[in-house]
Amino acid sequence: MVTHMGNGTMTRRATLALVVLGLSLGCGTVPATVADGATGAATDAASGDLVLVVGATGRTGIYAVEQLVDRGYRVRALVRNPDKARAALPAGVDVVVGDVRDPATLDPAMQGVKYVISAIGGGARNTVAGNGPEEVDHLGNVHLADAAQRAGVAQFVLVSSGSVTHAADYPVPFMRPVLAAKLKSEDYLRASGLPYTVVRPGALIDEPTGPGHIVLRQGDGPPGQISRVELARISVAVLGSAAALGKTFEAAAEAGEAAGDLEALFAALQPDPSPAQ
Ligand SMILES: NC(=O)c1ccc[n+]([C@@H]2O[C@H](COP(=O)([O-])OP(=O)(O)OC[C@H]3O[C@@H](n4cnc5c(N)ncnc54)[C@H](OP(=O)(O)O)[C@@H]3O)[C@@H](O)[C@H]2O)c1
Repeated sequence: MVTHMGNGTMTRRATLALVVLGLSLGCGTVPATVADGATGAATDAASGDLVLVVGATGRTGIYAVEQLVDRGYRVRALVRNPDKARAALPAGVDVVVGDVRDPATLDPAMQGVKYVISAIGGGARNTVAGNGPEEVDHLGNVHLADAAQRAGVAQFVLVSSGSVTHAADYPVPFMRPVLAAKLKSEDYLRASGLPYTVVRPGALIDEPTGPGHIVLRQGDGPPGQISRVELARISVAVLGSAAALGKTFEAAAEAGEAAGDLEALFAALQPDPSPAQ
């Protein structure tokens, strides 16, 4: 499938647009930073907790599964293609077949799950009919959140995107539907009552972003870029972190001095206002 930024690397046009966006939009709060490769503080709490990764055969999802296994979590992968999953994922991962468009497939996958990481994407271009941003990024995440709530999941981590609040005038038109769909899923999750964390990455790249450091911001300003492996690291590090609960933040990697660790960065972020505000 093709995601909204194409085949793993940004197109020159999209890169330019993001630079333009970065120059034209102000940042939210003072950013918090951490060195590439630093880990969060949840490592010791990982043992045996079951994590459901949705989008586990995706490019970020595979990294997330590998890192979860390395950190001692039990991992369940919700996938559409079990053969693809077994070829791509570490041995020992519990592979269950499901589709986020079909809520009936989600309840069985949630049984016994403590944490959910949703890294699904329907793609912004060349989408398969009926499996685009509205069906996957919006309604798929709604279905997942509903199922997670029924199962009593302790934390739902939604991989969203930077610039979701600027969908209507985003300078790359083909990305507008996916950004709008992701914002709707964010809003639904924030209002759901589920414990959650929303991670909004900048443009995803496959190359490691080092040397550099992770920058977390709020306010949906310039999105920047980040490698998928670092996005996975952040998505795993928020699990079990009280400091990351109820927070929405952007994530990018930038050159410069590193400071602190991920847990300190989460703690420096502001909690989201309640949906009623
Ligand atoms: N690309 C970017 O620059 C960018 C920027 C900001 C945010 N993001 C977001 O970051 C996340 C990770 O991106 P990525 O490029 O690493 O992902 P990706 O490689 O495109 O993987 C997407 C995953 O979603 C799964 N999926 C699609 N439709 C599904 C359905 N109906 N039911 C269940 N699973 C379904 C795919 O399954 P299959 O393996 O079966 O196809 C795949 O595992 C996504 O949420 C994406 O939107 C991307």
